[in-house]
Amino acid sequence: MASLYLLAIAVLILSLLIPSLILTLSFLLFQANMSFSSLSRGRRLALSTIGVIAAGGAGLVFALHNSVKATDLELHAPSYPWSHGGFLSSLDHGSVRRGYQVYRQVCAACHSMDYIAFRNLIGVSHTEAEAKSLAEEFEILDGPDDNGEMFTRPGKLSDHFPKPYPNPEAARAANNGALPPDLSYIANARHGGEDYIFSLLTGYCDPPAGVEIREGLYFNPYFAGQAIGMAPPIYNEILEYDDGTPATLSQVAKDVCTFLRWASEPEHDDRKRMGLKIILMSTMVSAVLYYMKRHRWTVLKSRKMVYKPPK
Ligand code: HEC
Repeated sequence: MASLYLLAIAVLILSLLIPSLILTLSFLLFQANMSFSSLSRGRRLALSTIGVIAAGGAGLVFALHNSVKATDLELHAPSYPWSHGGFLSSLDHGSVRRGYQVYRQVCAACHSMDYIAFRNLIGVSHTEAEAKSLAEEFEILDGPDDNGEMFTRPGKLSDHFPKPYPNPEAARAANNGALPPDLSYIANARHGGEDYIFSLLTGYCDPPAGVEIREGLYFNPYFAGQAIGMAPPIYNEILEYDDGTPATLSQVAKDVCTFLRWASEPEHDDRKRMGLKIILMSTMVSAVLYYMKRHRWTVLKSRKMVYKPPK
């Protein structure tokens, strides 16, 4: 380990020295009003060599810098081949629908999704009638009425998803002091997005020898600090999908991740469709513009212009 540090320091010094040398040299060149091409062959070769060594040194320092970070225990989520990952691929809406079921039956016990309303599901994962009946399953506090009293009524399409806890303090009190974050934008709010969430949900394991986990916390190598306050929320057959898909751990995790990606980025499909249209249109327009430009300039380009000095 010590020799690695020495090497890193040596390379650091070199990489500081060489660029300053280059700067000085180019300054001298500038002062002497010379350019690179006016130098002799040997000097040019020497300067280029210094340049290449400096770039290589900087690359090595960068690699070494990243190799000595003290986050050995934290795993970085791998990138998974999501069906919506492609440049032109839409979300898998069957998966979004199953993901809603997972959120509703599992995650919603602890996590709110304050920014999503039942009407947002229409045309994405559910029909209007289905979304209406989903909303009606909940009693929503409304009011005040004419007498100043609050009352409850069945949910409507315009209602946002109900919260599991009335306030963050109640949420902490019920979860050993840990606050379950709102999941509306979680796929954008965590580095790695759905890759991270999938890894987190499927990545629970026993802590390695010598690592003590406090009571009420769980070891998860993907979580920053490795000790998370969320018990493993899903397992094989935790629920039964309405569409009959086998609810394995990874299937459930994948579906809820696709749902959370949609929630964070409802414009996902439109964005890609619009991108495709723009690329197609701009290709056609550029071709036409290029042709027009050539057409206009051919008159000038085929003409020979001669400057005749006044007599
Ligand atoms: C029993 C309650 C409970 C359930 C059920 C639950 N969670 Fe959590 N979740 C928590 C708590 C508590 C935290 C905060 C953990 C912490 O900060 O240590 C958390 C944190 C998270 C985080 C954030 C991790 C981070 O990087 O900060 C995500 C993402 C998450 N949960 C997703 C889910 C999903 C998806 C489900 C449903 C499949 C789910 N949770 C079900 C309690 C729960």
